[in-house]
Amino acid sequence: MLTAYDATTAAVVDEAGIDVVLVGDSMGNTELGYDSTLPVTVDDVSSRTAAVARATEDALVVADMPFLSFGVDEASSVENCGRMLKEADADAVKLECGPHTVGLTEKLVQLGIPVMAHVGLTPQRVKELGYSRQGTDRADAEEILDLALAHEAAGAFSVVLEHVPANLAAQVTEQTAIPTIGIGAGAECDGQVLVIDDVIGTSDRVPPFAARFGDVRSEMASAVEGFRDAVEGGEFPAEEHSRTVDELDDLY
Ligand code: KIV
Repeated sequence: MLTAYDATTAAVVDEAGIDVVLVGDSMGNTELGYDSTLPVTVDDVSSRTAAVARATEDALVVADMPFLSFGVDEASSVENCGRMLKEADADAVKLECGPHTVGLTEKLVQLGIPVMAHVGLTPQRVKELGYSRQGTDRADAEEILDLALAHEAAGAFSVVLEHVPANLAAQVTEQTAIPTIGIGAGAECDGQVLVIDDVIGTSDRVPPFAARFGDVRSEMASAVEGFRDAVEGGEFPAEEHSRTVDELDDLY
């Protein structure tokens, strides 16, 4: 699984054969210039999901429900999650989970809205948890395992495990029948997810558990500088970029 937030990126991800495109609320940091995911709105995720869905042929498109768009009350949660399928053509929604999302997951699944659960580090709780690794003592680890099992029982089709010890992720993977998708959770998960900007090299800072597989930021900078230099140097636009119309030669 990889994130994408626009049609072009989604097409590249889909054509590469990645199974799932996540329209992550990480767009708050990567695309929208916020320093957390908290300001991201349902409209932000919905319009980005629609763009991604239009460009995706094979991959599953998952819309990541933003902070406070779910879990406050059932009716608004269902309405917001439903919008992702009805308006944006998502295949599923992802919820950052806690004990309060077990019943909601069951309700959404009953209504035909597939749910991907997300446990461990849940960045929407940044004010409470920071971005630190979760499940590092026995009690917390058992809570994460229990949460994954509870969401599986409630009907979630998959669970993301973020920034947890690899041996905890291995046990969650072992004890659940649904696919686990890890990010900073070791190699024993059924699948892996990263934020696309970290993978292609457009983000400023890459978390310690991610890896860069390209340097698109340098490529972008060199293209932009090339344009600037060509305009300043009078090389662009050249003859082949301009068209003239004879009868316009001597106006007035
Ligand atoms: O928002 C996001 O990109 C995510 C992934 C990191 C799992 O939730």
